[in-house]
Amino acid sequence: MDTPDPLASDVVVRNLRPSDLDAVIRLDAKNVGRRRDEFFELKLKYALSNTGITVSLAAEHDGAFVGFLLAQVFYGEFGVTERVAVMDVIDVHPDFRGHHVAAALLDQLRTNLLGLGIHVLRTEVDWDNTDLLGFFRREGFTMAQRLCLDLDLEGSRR
Ligand SMILES: CC(C)(COP(=O)(O)OP(=O)(O)OC[C@H]1O[C@@H](n2cnc3c(N)ncnc32)[C@H](O)[C@@H]1OP(=O)(O)O)[C@@H](O)C(=O)NCCC(=O)NCCS
Repeated sequence: MDTPDPLASDVVVRNLRPSDLDAVIRLDAKNVGRRRDEFFELKLKYALSNTGITVSLAAEHDGAFVGFLLAQVFYGEFGVTERVAVMDVIDVHPDFRGHHVAAALLDQLRTNLLGLGIHVLRTEVDWDNTDLLGFFRREGFTMAQRLCLDLDLEGSRR
């Protein structure tokens, strides 16, 4: 029989707050190896200005900030009329991985989105981020029926 994970049961998921900015930046820097201050200042400001749309979440263990995710709701993009949510970032502190912290964040996000009548969560992941890819696959994400394209604006000049 599986033994319950005591850490997992002590994890609390709550809405992200503006005062979490510094904790978000520090935790993300641990995972990506550099601070992304400007990126998160903008992202958090935008995400949290949509009051009532609780799609950016934090995970705490014993009052410590151990993980977060940032998502946004889009009301039709690229000609698609359905409302979809897009998850920009998910990060779990390295010392707290493997205890279903990310799964708990995703579960709460699922509940909140379904409550808003949104049935699709979309995300992008770097091809070589095998860590995230493995997690997304385990959680049920599949390849979308769309291709993401980049154009080098300088290099493609005629
Ligand atoms: C990927 C990540 C979010 C997973 O967090 P976590 O809290 O350790 O994941 P969980 O414990 O909730 O895992 C949930 C399930 O996914 C599985 N899983 C987790 N990471 C996995 C991986 N790399 N490959 C395959 N499966 C994985 C777990 O085994 C678990 O499966 P189970 O339900 O059968 O036990 C975490 O490792 C992380 O933050 N990585 C860095 C992400 C990053 O680069 N973020 C910045 C850019 S967005």
